[in-house]
Amino acid sequence: MTTGADRRPFIAGNWKMNLDHLQAIALVQKLAWTLKDAAYDPKGVEVAVFPPFTDLRSVQTLIDADRFDLAFGAQDLSPKDSGAYTGDISGAFLKALDCSYVLVGHSERRQGHGETDEVVNAKVLAAVRHGLVPVICVGETEAELEQHGTSAVPVAQTKAALAGVAAGTPVVVAYEPVWAIGTGKVATPETAQEVGAAIRAAIAEALTEEDAAATRILYGGSVKSGNIAGFLRQPDVDGALVGGASLDPTEFAGIARFPKHVGV
Ligand code: PGA
Repeated sequence: MTTGADRRPFIAGNWKMNLDHLQAIALVQKLAWTLKDAAYDPKGVEVAVFPPFTDLRSVQTLIDADRFDLAFGAQDLSPKDSGAYTGDISGAFLKALDCSYVLVGHSERRQGHGETDEVVNAKVLAAVRHGLVPVICVGETEAELEQHGTSAVPVAQTKAALAGVAAGTPVVVAYEPVWAIGTGKVATPETAQEVGAAIRAAIAEALTEEDAAATRILYGGSVKSGNIAGFLRQPDVDGALVGGASLDPTEFAGIARFPKHVGV
């Protein structure tokens, strides 16, 4: 039986639409050196970056050539595998670039690109088909919070995203309250724990208890090196999805070194 202690904490940097491929190379180099100087132990924490599509080949080549202990993934993928879908990117292409992960259903995609739960589910299934681990983003707006309470929307989004996913499929779920993204407003660690526990129960329903115990659940929304420790002390928060602070390698490395703050 998997326990919380078996879940390797995951610190993921979502660069959004920032940094071209040259800037990406500079950031990844600085991040790797900063982590090395800080005696980062990749066995204790997994660190991943999610650059724009156009950076992925450069990031792949650099990480591979210099053997950096960093994982990487894309910020989105097409629900389709190939064909007449102008502008879309297949999961097959991401896999060919050695991406391990792909973000799916980020609130900026749900809100800015009209991605429904059905679209998010189709993208999760596409990721799984291509051997990518989907990082499924869920979270409520301020209005939904007032209307439905704390866990209802993230739980419903998690269940919808996992429809048709086979038991035993590795996934990551990131709880990101929309009102906390890029605003400097953070959820309290207690709220993140409450929602994390509810998401874990939803995974047990959609998949199995074993899957629920094995799945890493992240908190995202204005995470910084100064507030990461409170979240990671929670039993149902296994890492963070970091936006703005992931663009500063020193700050992001400070977040990735959270075991030092948490004392684990
Ligand atoms: P933020 O973004 O850390 O800038 O709030 C988080 C995210 O959107 O993943």
